Amino acid sequence: MPERRKIIIDTDPGQDDAMAILLALASPELDLLGITAVAGNVPLPLTARNARVVCELAGRPDVPVFAGCDAPMQRKLLTAEHVHGKSGLDGADLPEPAMPLQPAHAVDFLIETLRREPAGSVTLVPIGPLTNIATTFTRAPDIVARVGQIVLMGGAYFEVGNITPTAEFNIYVDPEAADIVMKSGAQITMLPLDATHKVLTTRPRIEAFRRLGTPVGTAVTGWLDFFERFDVEKYGAEGGPLHDPCTIAWLLDPQLFSGRQVNVEIETEGRFTTGMTVADWWGVTDRTPNALFLRGVDADGFFALLTERIARL
Ligand code: BDR
Ligand code: CA
Repeated sequence: MPERRKIIIDTDPGQDDAMAILLALASPELDLLGITAVAGNVPLPLTARNARVVCELAGRPDVPVFAGCDAPMQRKLLTAEHVHGKSGLDGADLPEPAMPLQPAHAVDFLIETLRREPAGSVTLVPIGPLTNIATTFTRAPDIVARVGQIVLMGGAYFEVGNITPTAEFNIYVDPEAADIVMKSGAQITMLPLDATHKVLTTRPRIEAFRRLGTPVGTAVTGWLDFFERFDVEKYGAEGGPLHDPCTIAWLLDPQLFSGRQVNVEIETEGRFTTGMTVADWWGVTDRTPNALFLRGVDADGFFALLTERIARL
């Protein structure tokens, strides 16, 4: 087997974050070095708890989980219990985790790991606000050149916004952090709403998880049942968009996605547009491209991959 790709997931679980973690743990192509929790969908103590709940569900209490930043770099934390429920992971009845939280701060873990591992060998997968990653880059600028690539869920261009009319949640919560990451010079792949809103948890797709009949399949079904109701009520969509696992799916099978290498700037000062990802999709500026911005996705292929992998757990 070719060498496994080393990744670190930076996350604010979240049912869709949980699906991303499970997909990574179910995939032998990936070596999950650790999970760093950040404040986002719910406050940090809950995201750090939820990450461990997911590891234990997958039978992987050995994966180190670190707590990171508890608030955005310059703003007050905005959470999303209206989407994810009070715990952030409502919908499945799972035990409190017994595995410990690691004593180190997530930012120290990121710095130490990136300095220790060969340069270019570690992929960062941020699927929450970018506070931990930007704090790492600010505190240890030498790290940026050692990052293999960043594959993040965040932003929107054609789909515009889901938390304000013009902003996607992860970017809106900490736009200053997003700005630092987008300007860092690291190789970045973005999974914005333009792609993730095409990956919907329709009834037949949820039923396929139910039919697995495993503890993981049952938990996933509960989460997705809970998660979908928000988007069905809000947008009249066929199901909820499964944002975060798109990052892992892209690492496993990039052919499922299509996009363009474009310039993406973060609006940090807009009167109505704070947190907007200004993507130069049409190449109308001379700003240097800084991200692969994905827009197209084979949703059936994505769910076939996800279901087959979750069945392994
Ligand atoms: C993003 O916001 C969170 O609520 C989800 O987990 C996802 O990372 C979608 O806008
Ligand atoms: Ca998330």
